[in-house]
Amino acid sequence: MPSNVILIASGIATTYVFLRCLLAFTQDAKEPPALETAIPFLSPMIGMRKKAKFYIDLRLYIINSTELIPAAQKQVRILDFAPMESKVAINVMGSGPEGKKVLLRSEEGVGDYAYAILFDKAIHASVSPGPQLDAMNKSSVEIVARSVEELASRSPARLKLFERFEPGIIIMLLNLYPNLLARDSVQARREIVDAFNDYFVSHAHEEGSAFVQSHYQHKIDQGVTGKDVARFEIGAIVGILSNTIPASFWVLYHTFSDPTVLEECRKEILACCKVEGNTCTLDIAEVKASCSILLSILKESLRFHGIGTSVRVVTQDHLLDGKYLLKKGGIVMIPGPVQHSSTLAYGEDVDRFEHMRFVRSPTRKRPSPIAFRGFGGGATLCPGRHFATTEILTFVAVIIARFDFKPVRSEWVCPKTDKAGMAGTIAPPNLDEDVEVEVTPTAGEMAGKIWNVVLSASDKGVELSAEDIR
Ligand code: HEM
Repeated sequence: MPSNVILIASGIATTYVFLRCLLAFTQDAKEPPALETAIPFLSPMIGMRKKAKFYIDLRLYIINSTELIPAAQKQVRILDFAPMESKVAINVMGSGPEGKKVLLRSEEGVGDYAYAILFDKAIHASVSPGPQLDAMNKSSVEIVARSVEELASRSPARLKLFERFEPGIIIMLLNLYPNLLARDSVQARREIVDAFNDYFVSHAHEEGSAFVQSHYQHKIDQGVTGKDVARFEIGAIVGILSNTIPASFWVLYHTFSDPTVLEECRKEILACCKVEGNTCTLDIAEVKASCSILLSILKESLRFHGIGTSVRVVTQDHLLDGKYLLKKGGIVMIPGPVQHSSTLAYGEDVDRFEHMRFVRSPTRKRPSPIAFRGFGGGATLCPGRHFATTEILTFVAVIIARFDFKPVRSEWVCPKTDKAGMAGTIAPPNLDEDVEVEVTPTAGEMAGKIWNVVLSASDKGVELSAEDIR
């Protein structure tokens, strides 16, 4: 028995010494300093628990300095998102063998992972400010306005499916026996794929937005066939729903839970309303152009509740900013929350939700645009940001203008977000801490009016990232 104990103890000691030596001998003097850990390689893996399998054998380089972000983002193919994106897509979308080949394919003049690299170009016109985005935004404004009108009778079937799919995303991502450990999510994914398959087989996409059509065409051009055409839509709905819904929730929460914020914000929105007789017309283009407090609340919600991390694969040895060696095969991470909690970038009140933070004012220092990672940045900057912003602003502006919310409990209690999954870049509230509210139509001059929500054309987007500032 004692000899067994001695054997185990010496085994642990040998492993520890081996890992220390491995770190010391493979750590180049030019690499960024390694974090102090109790047991090299193992401690970070234990810390990352569920995600560990994904990162085994990898060197993780974490960029926390705001100044280094542009240097990293400039190296689009050396610090590349496409390899990671393609592998994630295979597992989460559940693509078939042929679809997998398309996602891993190289193309002359483009490089490896051509599908992911060419995707942004394929959808660019449909999601950038201009006529195609206007058309999609107009439909979205109509649908959102109608759904607010029909709040009570709305059927949430599609949403429920997504709620069943989302909890299993990480299991699917890591390919940890999803059929066993995320059975309900896999079944929900099958049902979503069937619904999309019916949509494409019946040619309904031909009546769809420019975004839907350009995405479809990209798949066809790249050789995606059969049910994979439907499966590849899963990536889009994760991006769209995982972030848009919690972002809308937090804007409403922070507006209604503070009477001053509500008053200032509602005043701004009502100033955009044109009343003729019994009809009140709200043009969302005007909301976007003149409701700077509402836009600031949205950006502050993305900052305050943001959990996104930009990830890049190091495709060749690279000396970042001429100073830090990043070795091929490593992973670079730019955690958004680190930027979002920087006092240097946001000032001493960084830990507070400050609804005016992003309103330009001569008396307030403007936050560093590079330190705002709500929509990421560089080559993977969110292409859907203009569409998402219009959709969210439509929904929250109409709700704030038309309804009053009172907490069912006697006071507002901010829900925690510690059970948030990794699918989104903004943390949703914990499902078991839902905020129950009593909703009543607002009294006052707008009471009983017929609402007409429209979107006039606009070729300008709002400033949502450092890249949007000209
Ligand atoms: C509030 C809503 C949204 C937020 C907060 C958000 C945020 C983000 C973030 C942080 C990234 C990663 C950027 C990076 O790693 O540097 C991203 C990527 C992406 N988003 Fe969004 N997003 C939203 C809505 C949408 C919508 C509605 C669409 C589609 C119309 C969309 C499409 C995409 C796509 C395709 C990418 C990948 C870009 C690439 O790989 O090059 N997003 N988004």
